[in-house]
Formats: sequence, C-alpha cells, structure tokens
Amino acid sequence: MSAPSVVPLPSSMTATGGAPFRLDGAVLTGDEAAVTELRRLLHLRTGLHLPVDPGSGAVPEGRRIDLRIGALPDPESSVIAIDADGVWVEGADPAGLFYAVQTLAQLATASGSRGELPALRIQDVPRFAYRGVMLDVARHFHDVRTVEAFIERAASLKFNHLHLHLSDDQGWRIALDTRPLLAERASGTSIGGDPGGHFSRDDYQRIVAAAAARHMVVVPEIDLPGHTHAVGLAYPELCEDPVITDEVRATVRDFGGDLPRPGEPYTGLAVGFSSLRIRDEGTYAFVADVVGELATITPGPYLHVGGDEALGTPADDFALFMERVTAIVVAQGKTPVTWHEAGAAPGLAPGTIGQYWGFVEPIEGMDEKTRAFVARGGRVILSPADAIYLDMKFAADSPLGLTWARGVTTLERAYDWEPAEVIPGVGDEQILGVEAALWTETVRDLADIDALLFPRIAAAAEAAWSPPRGSTPERSWASFRERVEALPSLWAALGFAGTSPDSILDREGTA
Ligand code: ACM
Repeated sequence: MSAPSVVPLPSSMTATGGAPFRLDGAVLTGDEAAVTELRRLLHLRTGLHLPVDPGSGAVPEGRRIDLRIGALPDPESSVIAIDADGVWVEGADPAGLFYAVQTLAQLATASGSRGELPALRIQDVPRFAYRGVMLDVARHFHDVRTVEAFIERAASLKFNHLHLHLSDDQGWRIALDTRPLLAERASGTSIGGDPGGHFSRDDYQRIVAAAAARHMVVVPEIDLPGHTHAVGLAYPELCEDPVITDEVRATVRDFGGDLPRPGEPYTGLAVGFSSLRIRDEGTYAFVADVVGELATITPGPYLHVGGDEALGTPADDFALFMERVTAIVVAQGKTPVTWHEAGAAPGLAPGTIGQYWGFVEPIEGMDEKTRAFVARGGRVILSPADAIYLDMKFAADSPLGLTWARGVTTLERAYDWEPAEVIPGVGDEQILGVEAALWTETVRDLADIDALLFPRIAAAAEAAWSPPRGSTPERSWASFRERVEALPSLWAALGFAGTSPDSILDREGTA
C-alpha cells in the first residue's frame, strides 16, 4: 500500500488497517481555533458543514473529531489517531494543532469524493525549528493582500517564518518614521518600470498579525551594504556611485533596461553595483535608525541585514560594515541574519545566523564562509539556489522565472537534496532550518507567484519539516511524486494557484 498522501511527510505514520472514518455525520469538538480551521478546510474541500459540539456531550461517543492541546514534549508536534469511531488529535501547542489540522485536510482531500479519513496513527515533529519562505517585495512590490495570500499558502505546508526582502536597488518598501524620505522618494517603481509601492507601518503590522494568526514569524530584511541604489534616491550622501562592471553591462545587454545612474530609479535586473559609504559615520546613523525602528515594530527575534553580492564594496570595507551592522542589530536585542557572504567578515557579531544561497554542491568557497557562522556560535539557514529558489524556471519554455541557478529547476531537483549533506561540517545541530526563496524580477502578481510556487514549495516543505531524505522509504522522490499528486485539488479548493489541478503538476513535465 502506498503511503497516505501527506506532504510534508510526517515523522511517523502508520496505517492501522481498520475501516476509515467517515466525515459525513461527524462532529467537531475541542480547541476553538483548531475546530474553526478544520471546519473551514473540510467545507472547502468536501462541501460538508460539520457541526461543532461545544462540549455538552449530547453527541454520541465515537463520531467525534476531537482536537486539543496535550502534554507533548516537542514544540509544534502532534499526535493523530484515526479509526472508524473517531479522530483524536493532540497538539503540543496551538501551532502543533494547526499543523495537525492541515494534515487532516490533506487526508480528507486524498480520499477524494469519498469523504473519508484513513485509519492510521501519525506522530509528527518538525525536523527544523526554522522553516522559511522568502518573498521579494523589492524587485516588484507586492501588496498586503498578496503577502497575506502568500502566508496562507506557506502555512498550509507547515512553514513558520516569512522572510520579507524589503529593500533592494529597485525600491525601498517600508515607511519608517525615522527616515521618511525612503518611502517618499525610493519606492515609486519596480523592475521594468512597473508600479512600485511600499508598506506603511500599519500595513506591516497587518502582515505581522496575519503571519502570527498562521503561526508564522516575520523576518524583515534590509539588504546592506550593496543592493542599496534606492537608498541614494532618498539620501544621496550615503551612497557611492554605481560600479559598472562587465557583469552589469552583460545583464543590461541580456535583459534590457538602462545602466544604473545616481539619483535615478533603477528598473533593470543587474546586481552588485551599489554600495553604502562604508567609511562615513552618517551611514551608521542611518543603519541605527533603520535597524532600531524595524526592531521596535518586529516581534520576532530575527533581523536580516543582507550582505549578499556587495561587489561594489571593497572586501575590507565589507568586513568592517558587516561587523558594525550586526553589532547594531544585537544592541537592539535581535539576532542578526545575513546571507552567507558575510561569513568572510572576521568581526561578525557572535551568534549571527548565516543564510546559504549557493548550490546544493557548494562552489567558490561558499561552504567555508557558511561554516564561519557556526565557528562564531551561529547557525545556518539553507536556501540552495539550484533547489529551492522558486523563482527559477520550472520548464525551459516558461515565460516566468530565471535560469542562472544551473538552469531549469524541476520538481525533482527541488525535492531531491538532503539538508545535512550540503555543507560538510554543517549537520542537523548546526542547521537552524531551510528556507525557500521567491525573488520577483519576473513576478508581478499573485498569479505569477502561484505559477512558480506550486508544486515546488511542497518539496521545500518536506526538506524543512520531514526526517532526512532516505531515512524511510517514504522520504524519497518516488514517494513524494505520488503523495504530491493529491494536493493540487486541495490547493484549487483553497483558491491557490488560480488554475486547474491538472495544470499544476503538468508544469513539472520537462524533467
Ligand atoms: C541572493 O540570491 N543574492 C541572496
């Protein structure tokens, strides 16, 4: 018998072999938030409006779906037991119960129109505490509603961190009281001259609240000291002139647009040409304002300060800057996160988290830079670009997406890698988690997001949540390929992907 279609694969799932539980006629009882969420999902999926038993006991035993918080040792974990007489779910905490509910919705979906849950027992504990998705709202701005939709998609697959890439050469996307000119002057456009935009502080609070309601923590990123051309539209005295390299010229040749010019919005795809002025104290007053204000409006523990592709910043200056900016984050009571390049800075604040965006097989010393975070007491977030950069094309003829990360990224490539095997010396103890990234050079709206996200986000979810690849027969590409087949009908019922279930998996065609 093939494994029940649950993605990400639970840590333990045993088919107990009895008759299934029929949803028709069942009653929901227990934790109010979990009951509400499961009722919503089952209705969307099966059309059934299951009644809720407030605890009067009027409903006969044995026909209940009972959802409660129990005494389980691991955060976010749960136990599910299903037989013909009932469904009993215990979550360690509200998040664990929420994830168990997502599992039940998938099981209900997999049974299709039969409206049944198979008899089984599931024990589920996430492998990694940090399971992230990143949305770039800088290259193309995406509004609060789109971010809320992104949150819903990710949370349904048990992701618990939302990394927002809030600034880049093309735009600054958050209004800050300390530096009002950023939103006023640096957020007007996107790539290709498309409309820009920014979040007000209220918008940001709405996003934080929407994320929290789905058990997700917001990780804001201000990308420094490169990727800062837009800062120069507001505060020109803080920025160096663009450094026009052969790579910048080649990108302009291949993708169009103009070369970056000081004081003019940049709407092309080139990277690595901008830098803050590293030896100017005004830069650190700016960083202290931005980091300080973001720290006050962000309840989560992490602030991401970039550090990638600072090709216009001399190496010594880069090291000095990353040392100072991570110290500023720590002084605000937050844990700094940076892209892996910052591992080259010897004075990086101890405990800084390194986010690896190299390939599944590291090149050019990226693994060494990543290990440097561990040597300083930090841990690692894995975002291998040739596997889980979801902005890569899924098929050669896709109009959306890029190909710089080793060409087309099929569903199989997104799935078939093992976190503990990417960086020698960086195993489960050193890995904080796994994060899928969606950069938005080619992504204008939610339909574009969905087209790139599904189904590959499910592969990333399995790397982040499930036991190591190969640890069981089910934690394999062959099993995932079968299990993920059941999900598009759920995604369609939830309004994800805005397209027919069939076409979602068809996209994976050119493996
Ligand atoms: C990155 O993709 N430049 C982090």
